[in-house]
Amino acid sequence: MLEKFERYPLTFGPTHIEKLERLSQHLGGKVELYAKREDCNSGLAFGGNKLRKLEYIVPDAIASNADTLVSIGGVQSNHTRMVAAVAAKIGMKCRLVQESWVPHEDAVYDRVGNILLSRVMGADVRLVDEGFDIGIRQSWEEAIADVKAKGGKPYAIPAGASVHKYGGLGYVGFAEEVRAQEKELGFSFDYIVVCTVTGSTHAGMLVGFAKDGRERKVIGIDASFTPAQTKAQVLEIARNTANLVELGKEIVEDDVVLVEDYAYPAYGVPSEETKKAIRLCARLEGMITDPVYEGKSMQGMIDLVNKGYFPKESKVLYAHLGGAPAINGYAYTFRNG
Ligand SMILES: Cc1ncc(COP(=O)(O)O)c(C=O)c1O
Repeated sequence: MLEKFERYPLTFGPTHIEKLERLSQHLGGKVELYAKREDCNSGLAFGGNKLRKLEYIVPDAIASNADTLVSIGGVQSNHTRMVAAVAAKIGMKCRLVQESWVPHEDAVYDRVGNILLSRVMGADVRLVDEGFDIGIRQSWEEAIADVKAKGGKPYAIPAGASVHKYGGLGYVGFAEEVRAQEKELGFSFDYIVVCTVTGSTHAGMLVGFAKDGRERKVIGIDASFTPAQTKAQVLEIARNTANLVELGKEIVEDDVVLVEDYAYPAYGVPSEETKKAIRLCARLEGMITDPVYEGKSMQGMIDLVNKGYFPKESKVLYAHLGGAPAINGYAYTFRNG
């Protein structure tokens, strides 16, 4: 589906799929849980889902003759860390707007984890006191204008690399990769569980899996706590991406399956249940999920298994999208493990 698009390789290649045997057994052995390890997809600054998206955006950035990548996220944004890494790798400068998206207090929140890594990689990191919003932000537009005013050539990448014309392509590739891996495994996955916030990961998967009729088997777990906006953004990106790849099938609102029950109490703030899920997965599988994104989708998947949402003997693929560095910003939360 992606042959006509230029791709700049930033990842190692197809990501590993592993069975979560002990977690599956712990939950009663009714369904088989697997994880696709997007969190281990690259040697670039700990990797993660943004690299698949950026592989299809970087050729456009290079062709534009830009010299500075400009992007935005929360203080502990994984996305901005990935943009900083990519800028270093391709020899561009990087300007990052880090907004106060998370009402979370930890003495080292703006010093450790993702933001620390972005600073080490040489990004020009600016903290901005604005709240959570996945839409286009004034602070980002101001940063772009400021780079220009100082004689630079900015290339703008929106939050999560989502509302970009090529933002959905990377996760179309994920679906194609899963299909090839299913041939080797000798079975197909009945459900794919994904954490959803800015939307292009879910949207890309939806389009990719629509090719074999599995668009509604992609179960998005909302971690934004603004699910209406997230759902609308997934739909818009999916439609745009479907046109780009000439899917030949209309994407409708009901194709976007977004479970809204696990994002509480706020974006970036883990509930007691999220923390429990993070510990459970870490203690049974040695797999680290973070308090902002993957901990919430892990909580969601566990709860859906317990509620019997997945029919008996289903094979469920958890897309582990990365994000572990952010857990360092929650040192006090996990001070006792
Ligand atoms: C680790 C992690 N998981 C999930 C997501 C959600 O992906 P998206 O923003 O494409 O919906 C993100 C980024 O926002 C992320 O960094």
